[in-house]
Amino acid sequence: MLSSFERLLFLRRVSIFQELRDEFLVKLASAMDELSFPNNHTIFEQGEEGRSLYIVVSGRVRVHLGDRDLAFLEKGTFFGEMALFDAEPRSASVTTLEACDCLTLNQLQLIDAIEETPEIAVNVTRALSRRIRELNG
Ligand code: CMP
Repeated sequence: MLSSFERLLFLRRVSIFQELRDEFLVKLASAMDELSFPNNHTIFEQGEEGRSLYIVVSGRVRVHLGDRDLAFLEKGTFFGEMALFDAEPRSASVTTLEACDCLTLNQLQLIDAIEETPEIAVNVTRALSRRIRELNG
C-alpha cells in the first residue's frame, strides 16, 4: 500500500499524467482505488465489460489472447483504456506475472482528467501508437 504522498509522487512520474496540475493530481490520487493481486491472477478476461483503467504500481502483467502473449507491462504503464474509450468489451486478457499492485481510474475519472488536461488524451494516443508499432514489428 502506498501512502497518499507516495501515491502522488508515483502518479507524477506516470507518463500519461505528466501535465496534470498539482491540485488536480492530488484530487485524482485520493479518488483512485489501489488493488493488490497475487502472482498468476487474471485481472480481467477478453470479452468482459470494462469499467476501469489500471496503472501498474509494482510487479508485471502479461496482456494475452488465450496462450498468445501480446505484451508485457511493468511499473508506470497502464492498461484497460481501450474498453473505456470505445465502450466495447475487453480486447484481451491481463494476467499477473508476479504479485502486482495497481491503481485504478474509472471512466468518469478518466473523462474528468482529460477535460481538465487534454494532453492526457495525446499521451494515451502516443502510447497506443507505440503499441501498434510494436505489433507491426
Ligand atoms: P482493453 O481492451 O480495455 O482491455 C485489454 C487491454 O490490454 C487493452 O484495453 C489494452 O490496454 C491492452 N492491450 C490490448 N492489446 C494490446 C497490445 N497489443 N499491446 C499492449 N497492450 C494491449
